[in-house]
Amino acid sequence: MKIVVIGAQWGDEGKGKIVDYLANEAQIIVRYAGGANAGHTIVIGGEQYALHLIPSGIFYPDKIAILGAGMVIDPKALFDEIKMLEDRGIETKGRVLISDRAHIVLPKYIQIDKERDAARKKPIGTTGRGIGITYSMKCDRDGIRIADLAWKEKMDELDQADLDFLAPYTDKLLEMSVDLGTYLMHRKNTQVLFEGAQGTLLDLDLGTYPYVSSGMSCAAGAAVGGCIGPRAIDKVLGVFKAYSTRVGNGPLPSEFDPTAEDELCRFVRETGREYGVTTGRPRRCGYLDLVSLRYACLSNSIDSLVMTHLDVYDTFEEIKACVAYNINGKIVETFPASVEDLNNAKPVLRTFPGWKKSLADALTYEEFPVAAMEYVEFIARYCETPVDIVSVGYDRKATIIRKSPWVL
Ligand code: IMP
Ligand code: MG
Repeated sequence: MKIVVIGAQWGDEGKGKIVDYLANEAQIIVRYAGGANAGHTIVIGGEQYALHLIPSGIFYPDKIAILGAGMVIDPKALFDEIKMLEDRGIETKGRVLISDRAHIVLPKYIQIDKERDAARKKPIGTTGRGIGITYSMKCDRDGIRIADLAWKEKMDELDQADLDFLAPYTDKLLEMSVDLGTYLMHRKNTQVLFEGAQGTLLDLDLGTYPYVSSGMSCAAGAAVGGCIGPRAIDKVLGVFKAYSTRVGNGPLPSEFDPTAEDELCRFVRETGREYGVTTGRPRRCGYLDLVSLRYACLSNSIDSLVMTHLDVYDTFEEIKACVAYNINGKIVETFPASVEDLNNAKPVLRTFPGWKKSLADALTYEEFPVAAMEYVEFIARYCETPVDIVSVGYDRKATIIRKSPWVL
């Protein structure tokens, strides 16, 4: 069985935690897009880990973690991450593989990324990891792939500085490389999890362009970047937070009002630990945006939603969610492509009663307070997609499974 896990918002929905949880029943975990711009926090038995490139799932000793063809990989970041894991007692040897079609991020791309974003009249607020430049080089057919490291003629085209940078990593990268399509074809009956990076609204095509990342965060990206056909995917899971966050610039229609709702914003940011894992930037916060969530469900054919951070609302009298946009006086329930429309959109909010109880005490969904269940069910109805998993804390244990995705 092959399951794809994507972010249904602007990234940081808690995919890392969910993939780590679901990886228990998988043999192979493939990350299919993005690079070291991503940051996944995973907490296991009180120990916290931050991953940027290696798929969550590496923490189980017997799983294979693969960096897919749709990724852009900074070798230094990769080997720093491997060292961090080894130093903390996680054995990685032979378990981290890389698609030979994945592209390589060079230090000069990182430099150009920073300079170009700073020079923009309206910066995107990139993570400065060279992501956009590497994907541009790829599209321009000037990129360097893992397989190319063994292609002498190609390597001769590189500057000496690039060659010096790559030298300590070349043999190790080639040793880890696989022809991912063939590798997966020979393992047809294994359970594979495809882990997305960022989220639908940061996807190059589906997102709030140009305020997006440059990779494929959408579910379709799993087919391209995971080297399988779209029909080989059995299920798509969309992870979303009980509220909205965004790092960097660009539209966030349901963002808390910085003056009137500053206290609410601060509470959500502190309780939800909403600081970028990669850059440390405070995340912008807002109400759950159901208009964009339904768009994510439709455009990715999400079978099942995974809700995270619901416990952040435990102490609230009432909870609000955005159910439509008011764009210059017009009520809109579909997600517009126009950034101008999104910038002008005022959230139309619906209020739900709070539950004033700790959700962490519940072992099953049925033990949730009625108000919490009603909030969850409203979301499912609005999005026409079931909410099958609810996360109420950082630890693996704080995960309520209503329906396992591994059951067809
Ligand atoms: P880039 O991917 O570094 O080019 O950044 C483009 C935009 O995507 C910026 O607004 C970043 O803050 C955002 N972004 C990139 N990766 C992530 C992520 O993993 N989580 C949240 N935002 C991200
Ligand atoms: Mg993140």
